Amino acid sequence: MQKGLAGLKRTNYCGSLTKADAGKTVTLMGWAAKNRDLGGVIFVDLRDRSGVVQTVFNEESGSDVFTLAESIRSEFVIGVEGVVRERDPQTVNPNIATGEIEVVASQLVVYSKSETPPFYIEEGIDTNEQVRLKYRYLDLRRPDMQRNMLLRHKACKIARDYFDTNGFLEIETPILIKSTPEGARDYLVPSRVHHGSFYALPQSPQLYKQLLMVSGMDRYFQIARCFRDEDLRADRQPEFTQIDIEMSFVDMDDVISINEGMLAKMFDETLGYKVETPFLRLSYKEAMARFGSDKPDTRFGLELINMSDVVAGCGFKVFADVVASGGSVRAINVKGAADRLSRRDLDSLVEFVKIYRAKGLAWFVVTEGEIKSPVTKFLTEEETQAIITRAGAEIGDVVLFVADKDPIVFDALGALRCELAKRLDLIDKSKFNFLWVTDFPLLEYDDEEKKYVAIHHPFTSPKDEDLALLETDPLKVRAKAYDVILNGTELGGGSIRIYDSQLQSKMFSLLGFSQEEAHARFGYLLDAFKFGTPPHGGMAYGLDRLIMLLTGSSSIRDVMAFPKVQNASELMTNAPDTVDLKQLKELGIKLVSVE
Ligand code: AMO
Ligand code: AMP
Repeated sequence: MQKGLAGLKRTNYCGSLTKADAGKTVTLMGWAAKNRDLGGVIFVDLRDRSGVVQTVFNEESGSDVFTLAESIRSEFVIGVEGVVRERDPQTVNPNIATGEIEVVASQLVVYSKSETPPFYIEEGIDTNEQVRLKYRYLDLRRPDMQRNMLLRHKACKIARDYFDTNGFLEIETPILIKSTPEGARDYLVPSRVHHGSFYALPQSPQLYKQLLMVSGMDRYFQIARCFRDEDLRADRQPEFTQIDIEMSFVDMDDVISINEGMLAKMFDETLGYKVETPFLRLSYKEAMARFGSDKPDTRFGLELINMSDVVAGCGFKVFADVVASGGSVRAINVKGAADRLSRRDLDSLVEFVKIYRAKGLAWFVVTEGEIKSPVTKFLTEEETQAIITRAGAEIGDVVLFVADKDPIVFDALGALRCELAKRLDLIDKSKFNFLWVTDFPLLEYDDEEKKYVAIHHPFTSPKDEDLALLETDPLKVRAKAYDVILNGTELGGGSIRIYDSQLQSKMFSLLGFSQEEAHARFGYLLDAFKFGTPPHGGMAYGLDRLIMLLTGSSSIRDVMAFPKVQNASELMTNAPDTVDLKQLKELGIKLVSVE
């Protein structure tokens, strides 16, 4: 039966006690992490959010307390009053922060018992994630998960304080909205009052934050929940959190510098890591040419080398033909890897690049006296030498080539350099390499849908000097968009926005919206822009990704309290779930089977 606190009042957290507390009477409350019954003495490790401390039950505790202590099992919730004492030097436990002391119990209350948990409540377990997520409340008791939650809290507080200090107002925007496109599918919520109409859950607060700039709020931020019905991966969830900001009367440099300040402060105050500012900036073009990716990991080299001019017209037909047809041949020189990459490894790399639609992977293994390669037999001595020179290859190096259309070459080599860095252990894990990628193309062409789509979103401004190209060569137009990358992960992105109603309308029509459609979907934005709109821009971070990198976790699930799994369900509560027919009836919804 429940008995409140049964006369005890907590005085301290378990993990906060030190030698300085010796002699004090304290009252602790928490979970029995471990108990050892040695006959005349029982040790119970008591755990709360702050850590663990050893409590001791012996003849000093009195027989009632001692007898009750004998019944304690793992994960029982107990309250212990006792006196802190220093441990004998030979029983000091250097592995825990409170290892120099223990608490000799004089009172004990068992608040609640526990069944045997399905897994150990301890650091770094290798239990199947499905089980951890079904019992997430137990998983969250584990010290590593508690640390992740604490760090997430701290990071949010730092962001909040930083933006407050810099004049940003925290403003909430609605969750039940009219759809805002960010490129994913919407989650829809049926309206009971307006039969047949639906709210969408926000993919981001994009249009509201822009409208707040029209309202004169000048600087906005929000720790905002976003919803996107898209395929999940380790760094994607259907429901996730952004640190979202927007600023008026700014250009890209202003947005970048305020955000560099925030990131530097966050890494300093959470990890004591000093981030150097300003961060490296790469144009999209340079990032692709050097790293084959618009989110390059710069903790290791293996940069791409363009071989196209060197191999144009050479004897190896695959290379020559690709260059002749407007594609490119690019390479990576894996320095000194000749004795680390066996023939078998090279074959597996060929298979690896095929995942990225490359047709093959040619290689040169440069050894003393000869170059081992399946393609040198098609090349003259001079051609081979020219390739070696361009690659800067020396004895012991392995040069890997992909020939194809640019997008395939970049994709394949971009992924290959990351894969090689992992396999050959070339990544310095102690580094946090931040950089900005700027000057993204504004549009891309969707071959299936046969129309242009915005790479960032339809509200991103073209670069002033490229405006004329909107009419003549839209795919050449660069955007005032920027992404911030950390160790090869896209942490956040943003842009300077269109603030002119006419330019916005033109953008919608380029994207294939008729005037009526544009008005039906975004009329409120186009109208707002007619009433005095400041130039503005902003960005949003994926908070979950930021915390994942801060904590060194391999998945954003490990830094979210209650994440969803691959098929977008939540294993603990079993959401999504069926609902009462009555509820559906109220909403005017009838279920039909879908093929
Ligand atoms: P964007 O769509 O690039 O921009 O999103 C910003 C950042 O949000 C994170 N993110 C995600 N994190 C977890 N799960 C997801 N499914 C997911 N999708 C995105 C990424 C990404 O960099 N409104 C614009 C921002 C702006 O222009 O101001 C936007 O949402 O880290
Ligand atoms: P093949 O003449 O097709 O047997 O290929 C000879 C070598 O060139 C093999 O090592 C292939 O993996 C490689 N290769 C084939 N196509 C390409 C390509 N598009 N890019 C790079 N290497 C290729």
